[in-house]
Amino acid sequence: MAGMNNSPEHQSRVYRHWAPIYDRVYRGLLRDGHRTTATLAAAAGPDILEVGVGTGLVLPHYPAHCRVTGIDLSEHMIAKAREKVERKGFAHVKALRVMNAQHLDFADDSFDAVCLPFVVTLIPEPERALDECARVLRPGGEIIIASKLGDGRGIQGRIEEAVAPLVHKVGWSSAFRISRIGEWARHRGDFDLLEIRPVFPNGFFKVIRLKQRARS
Ligand SMILES: C[S@@+](CC[C@H](N)C(=O)[O-])C[C@H]1O[C@@H](n2cnc3c(N)ncnc32)[C@H](O)[C@@H]1O
Repeated sequence: MAGMNNSPEHQSRVYRHWAPIYDRVYRGLLRDGHRTTATLAAAAGPDILEVGVGTGLVLPHYPAHCRVTGIDLSEHMIAKAREKVERKGFAHVKALRVMNAQHLDFADDSFDAVCLPFVVTLIPEPERALDECARVLRPGGEIIIASKLGDGRGIQGRIEEAVAPLVHKVGWSSAFRISRIGEWARHRGDFDLLEIRPVFPNGFFKVIRLKQRARS
């Protein structure tokens, strides 16, 4: 949201309150985006970093052969994800760590895919976070972003209006444009924007695939 406070301290405070109720409010609305994100990430390879893993709603959608590491700013959201992993016995989840997307504590070229489900608009400097994602991604790997990237017109506009209260409550920006991600990729010159896939409801959310070129 324009003028919103996206500082790490503010985000942690906000998500402390969301943690107990997040799944009930968002599971259904985000399921298609979550499933699509996990499927596309797994197609790029088994070693996956999920940025902004939250309560772990994407985790059930990864195939069992994957090795998923999840990070999130909020220890309360991560605690919910840990409970889920334990309760469901998800052997494909390797680690869940409290971490800021803008400073990833992983070596270069560590992952086949890095995904950012419904988090990129919450990060104060998304380009810096995307640069970090690119650094920890192996050459030829993919960044998968799920986000609200509507244009406010037609049926799309009416759906936006209907779900606006939920969208604003969780802090997603209505000002964030898909072009910002395209510009980041163009500016770097080592990523190709492969696909922008509309997902439920009616393309209100989109999943974006960016592929890092192999180094020559
Ligand atoms: C809307 S929730 C999405 C959670 C999960 N990805 C999903 O799709 O259900 C956004 C999550 O991003 C986390 N987050 C916000 N800013 C972050 C940052 N700079 N680094 C890491 N996580 C962040 C929040 O703590 C919250 O858990």
